[in-house]
Formats: sequence, C-alpha cells, structure tokens
Amino acid sequence: MVATQERTLADKLRLDFPILYQEINGQPLVYLDNAATSQKPLVVLEALQDYYRRDNANVHRGVHTLSSRATDAYEGSRDKIAAFVNASSRQEIVFTRNATEAINLVAYAWGQSTLQPGDEIILSVMEHHSNLIPWQMVAQRTGAVLKFVELTDTQEFDLDHFRSLLSDRTKLVSVVHVSNTLGCINPVEEIVAIAHTHGAKVLIDACQSAPHMPLDVQAIDCDWLVASGHKMCGPTGIGFLYGKLDLLRSMPPFLGGGEMIADVYLDHATYADLPHKFEAGTPAIGEAIALGAAIDYLTGIGMDKIHAYEEELTAHLFRRLAEIPELKIFGPQPKANGSGRAALASFTAGDVHPHDLSTILDQAGVAIRAGHHCTQPLHRVIQAQSTARASLYFYNTTQEIDTFVAALKEAIAFLAGCLGSTVGSADSVIWEISLSRRSCCSVWELVWKGDRLLRLT
Ligand SMILES: Cc1ncc(COP(=O)(O)O)c(C=O)c1O
Repeated sequence: MVATQERTLADKLRLDFPILYQEINGQPLVYLDNAATSQKPLVVLEALQDYYRRDNANVHRGVHTLSSRATDAYEGSRDKIAAFVNASSRQEIVFTRNATEAINLVAYAWGQSTLQPGDEIILSVMEHHSNLIPWQMVAQRTGAVLKFVELTDTQEFDLDHFRSLLSDRTKLVSVVHVSNTLGCINPVEEIVAIAHTHGAKVLIDACQSAPHMPLDVQAIDCDWLVASGHKMCGPTGIGFLYGKLDLLRSMPPFLGGGEMIADVYLDHATYADLPHKFEAGTPAIGEAIALGAAIDYLTGIGMDKIHAYEEELTAHLFRRLAEIPELKIFGPQPKANGSGRAALASFTAGDVHPHDLSTILDQAGVAIRAGHHCTQPLHRVIQAQSTARASLYFYNTTQEIDTFVAALKEAIAFLAGCLGSTVGSADSVIWEISLSRRSCCSVWELVWKGDRLLRLT
C-alpha cells in the first residue's frame, strides 16, 4: 500500500504566488530572499488593482461614494492590523511608509521632545540600521547617550549584559524581536518587563517576527512596535506603528500638513485625534488596503501554522547546510525540531566572497542575499565583512532547500578552485580559456579565468 504523503503548507499555497512560477537563467526560481521582502499572493495583487480600478478616491475628506468606499477599506485595514497584533484599540495603529519611518516617528516625536542630556537609550549590537541611525541622530540632538547590549557566546541577546546596562538614566530600550542576520528570537516579554522596572519605554522592531509568528502587543506589553507590510505579503510603501494609546496621545505630531489637523488658523492649529495626528498628507491608500488583504490572507492560514511549518523548514535547512564543512553559520543553532531560531541562515564559506556565491547561485535560479543586510556594526562584531543569507517563508519547500544546497556546494567548490588557482602560468590559463570556447563553460567560469589571468600577468 502506498502511503499518502501529507501536503505541506507550501504545497497548498504556492499557487497563490504567481511570481514563483518562472525560470531564472533557464532554471526554476527558488526565492530565498524573504527577509528582504516577501512575495505577494494573488489576493493582495487583486486588492491593489481593485482599489485603483473601482474605488480610487482620497480618504476622509469626501462624502461621495468612492471616497466613502476608499475610507471604509483604508480604516478597515487598520482594524485588521489592530486585531493581528492584538492592540487594545484601533487608534493605537498608525500607518507609516515602512518600519523605518515608524521608528523615525517615535525618535522625532517622542525622543526629541522627551530626552535630556545624559539620558540613556539601550539598543543591541544586532540592530538593523533602521533601529540605530534614528537614535544616533536623536542622541546627537538631545545629548542622550547610546548603550549597546552585546551578544552571548551563542550569538544571542545577552540578557545579563542588558540588566547590567539599565539604570534610572535609561529612558528607552529599542530592540529587534528577530534578528534579520543572526536569526535569533529575542525574549521580548522579558526585556520589556525588566526595562519597565526601571521606568524605561520599550520599542520592538517586529520586521522579522510579524510575518512569521503570532504577535500580541498586550502580552509583550511593549510601548511601541513597528513592522513593514512588504515583508508580510503586503505591498511596499506601507508599514505600521503600534503605540500605547496614552503614550501616542502624549506625543507631539511628527509631520505637519493636511489630514492631521482639527482646526487651522494662520498662526496656529489644533491636531486631529489619534491615529490621524500622525498621518499627515494623503496616505498610501491602495497599499494600506492591500496590506489589509495580506493580513486577512495570513490570518486565514493561521500564524501558528506558518510558524510551525517554518520550524520544519529550519530543521531541514540546518540539517542540509551541516553537510558543507566550509560553512560558518551565524546565530544560534536550532533545536532538532527546528525551533529556537528564525527560518534564515547567514553564513560565510571560507575566503569565498558572499557576492560571488550569490551571483553564481542566481545562475542556478536561486535568489539569496549577500552583503551586510543593514547590520554593519553586527558584522564587525561577528568579524565578517559580509555574509550570504538564505531566508525562507511558508511558500518555500524542502525540495527548494535541496536545490539551494546542491547549487551552494557546486558554487563553493568552483569558487574555492578559482581562489586557489593563482598558481600556474598565464599561458596555461590562456590555454584553458581557449579550451572553454569548445567545451560548455558558464559566463562566470570565463570571468574567473579572466580574473586569474589578470592576477598572473
Ligand atoms: C529587523 C529589521 N528591521 C528593520 C528593517 C527595515 O525595514 P524597512 O526597510 O521596510 O523599513 C528591516 C528590513 O530588512 C529589518 O529586517
């Protein structure tokens, strides 16, 4: 009797992502760059198109039918996000362009009006530049001081070091939930509880957690939380800020203009109630509505199911990567069942440059990212100039991981061969290149042979 194989989440859902069904360089696309941005399901593409085809009008200002439809859909999306993160009020959700803008909003509106010289802001060394630069700027303007939580031996958030940095001078703790480079999942509930005992506010960067696991801002008890729509099946140009109601009320506006006002006089104005106080100008209406469709889609699948399936993928990814002795993978090891870290792996392979790896993998149809992933200070800490990163989402399959690992093995063997080949004479390399014209040789092989030739002449 043939056992029926259980269909995975990806088997059930891949058809929703038309972009995945294409060839890149003659090979089926294997998209493993989800930490940078996720792909969008048909329902999101349709929501965006439907809005522009049927309902396009500016929000809040009009009483005509199109404007009410646009307003209802836009505000409906806010309700969906509020439910998605379990906010206690829809007024706690502010639409922004992305997570970066949401952090800047808090840095300018709260930081600049609250922080005094000598006040301390605690970040960690693993922060994305989006959660570092705005605080550097605010610190420069206010005289506040930045402090950084180090990594443990397993390259995770060092809670003991964090505790040692806190004092009554600490006014803010702003940390990432899931590191986009290390893949570690930080104990945000504990971090918030500890920070609150010192009276500090806490911002959580949920860019890499909101797309992958259930989130509950009331359980975390954070003061603010930010995320970007494009990493969670939504379009680019839309993200959100969650903030506790009283705190948002106490903050001055970030940007001034239309939509964020109540009454305007020539010399002064009063501001709209939350959340509009922080949404100056015409917002990204279609994008916000499409993000609502993405939230419906994710909620329909179930964030717990997404998280559980991604753990299976993580276990498979790390099992397969362990076959490559040259690899150094950063961040904590997952448990045998794949739990304990995010479904991504940043790695180096000896002297092979991650950009070369990524370029050669692209020839095999595999999309991974190479570089510093907007965590340059972290790369200094882990002593890597850059890393290659494969990051997964629920539409990825174990077969895709196998394709990636096979291509990675070949790429490393090929590049390591090129690196080790400064021996020999220029004449022998010219001979090899002339042979390549007759045999099947990839463009990259030729480029490398040309490079070797340059080094030998
Ligand atoms: C952990 C983390 N924080 C913040 C960001 C910034 O996101 P965005 O560029 O969408 O604002 C990213 C994006 O990669 C991220 O991974």
